[in-house]
Amino acid sequence: MSKVVVFGAGGKAGRAVIQEAISRGHEVTAVVRDPAKYDDLAGERVQLVAGDVTNVHSVAAVAAGHDIAISAVYDMASAPEPFFVGAAHALLESLPAAGVTRALIIGLVSNLEFAPGQRIMDGPEFPEGFLEFSKGHAAGLDVFRSATTDLDWLVVTPPMVLDEGPRTGTYRVGGDQLLTKEDGTSHLSYADLAIALLDEAETPKNHKTRISVAD
Ligand SMILES: NC(=O)c1ccc[n+]([C@@H]2O[C@H](COP(=O)([O-])OP(=O)(O)OC[C@H]3O[C@@H](n4cnc5c(N)ncnc54)[C@H](OP(=O)(O)O)[C@@H]3O)[C@@H](O)[C@H]2O)c1
Repeated sequence: MSKVVVFGAGGKAGRAVIQEAISRGHEVTAVVRDPAKYDDLAGERVQLVAGDVTNVHSVAAVAAGHDIAISAVYDMASAPEPFFVGAAHALLESLPAAGVTRALIIGLVSNLEFAPGQRIMDGPEFPEGFLEFSKGHAAGLDVFRSATTDLDWLVVTPPMVLDEGPRTGTYRVGGDQLLTKEDGTSHLSYADLAIALLDEAETPKNHKTRISVAD
């Protein structure tokens, strides 16, 4: 049994991660900005606390005493680049100081490659409306990649479609390239993403890198 602190605990991915973690017997600290909005989250093995993933003091305070941190955050109201860069810096600075050794961060499909060296977000048909958000996520990934840290971090990147489909218990793991099926589709459920995250939490296989996951 481990103690897992989950940032963005009230979101779709955060909730799936909590379900998967408690089903495996772990204890979870669910971090949300406003606990009053998420009182359904607290439970027998889930402690609900207030925290902000972009704030070094807040991350240090809520993470103390945990083994593993999982970040499943996204803030529609913030400018993406300062948000994801700020979160990356806060996690990198505060988690090791708080005694957390392993951090799993959910990434974004658009900075995966559709061909060697060619990111989806740089392709000619990439929608303009998603560019700023994609650049923000990519900048956060760059912060992890350029960090000199003892923290055993891993960015886990979902495929093109991430949805609330069933928990199948199966997923594939790739590297920087988008994983697709023979028909070109690229899909995973939040529940199966949570399995991939908890598998990496319990039995770390990939270290200080980015992986992609898909069904
Ligand atoms: N295909 C893909 O690559 C793909 C698809 C979907 C999602 N994602 C990524 O997966 C991650 C999780 O997505 P999701 O679908 O679960 O999003 P979501 O449902 O919107 O949840 C995100 C959560 O982050 C929380 N949050 C925002 N700012 C925060 C802060 N400063 N500190 C702590 N928590 C904060 C939000 O809570 P409050 O605002 O209530 O505080 C919200 O509950 C995101 O990074 C998203 O970009 C990737």
